[in-house]
Amino acid sequence: MKPYAQSPLLVTFCGADIGPWRIVSATTVCGEPLSPAPRLWIGEGRDTPALPDARWSLRATTSNARYTAASELSAMQSKQEGLGRPGATRAALIPISKSPTWWGMAQDARRAIFEETSHHIAIGLDYLPAVARRLHHGRDLGEPFDFLTWFEYAPEAEPAFDEMVARLRATPEWTYVTREIDIRLARD
Ligand code: HEM
Repeated sequence: MKPYAQSPLLVTFCGADIGPWRIVSATTVCGEPLSPAPRLWIGEGRDTPALPDARWSLRATTSNARYTAASELSAMQSKQEGLGRPGATRAALIPISKSPTWWGMAQDARRAIFEETSHHIAIGLDYLPAVARRLHHGRDLGEPFDFLTWFEYAPEAEPAFDEMVARLRATPEWTYVTREIDIRLARD
């Protein structure tokens, strides 16, 4: 996987029989589940089509930040590490959708819930650099999930990752989440 791209990068995630990541578990947190699949295949770029025999195929694109203040961006940039670290043999793909109420709010109202009330970035910063991340947006592509969130970490960071996810799910932001699948992965 390429590190955080400057320009939008279309990424296709396929639940399939092949792919570098073994699907260890897939937990439906809320909403409709996805079909079971043994492995996860990832294709990058507009010229990379989805696998024809995939059980499911989800697409989304990297994008610019919407809610991140300059001070938060520099705090993250000074702490975060890129994707593809050799020791990061565990990953999580967490597709998420939010409710019409969320999308009906103004940008500043969403930001207030996201950070001032829920402290999403402040919580996330506690887990950098152990966890590397990339956010993909699917909503404007007409995809079933608004976001495909991707995280990579070493096996020993899994308890910390679980703790972070539990902290985020307990926030007011998560009351707007209507569909969430927590897919955990491992590679040799
Ligand atoms: C590794 C620590 C994490 C950090 C540093 C972090 C940071 C961020 C930041 C800065 C944004 C806002 C991007 C923007 O300005 O548009 C964001 C958005 C988001 N993050 Fe996280 N995050 C982390 C973990 C997580 C986890 C574990 C999940 C899922 C369980 C998650 C789900 C999301 C979602 C769905 C969005 C999009 C929110 C929206 O636009 O409505 N994040 N994250």
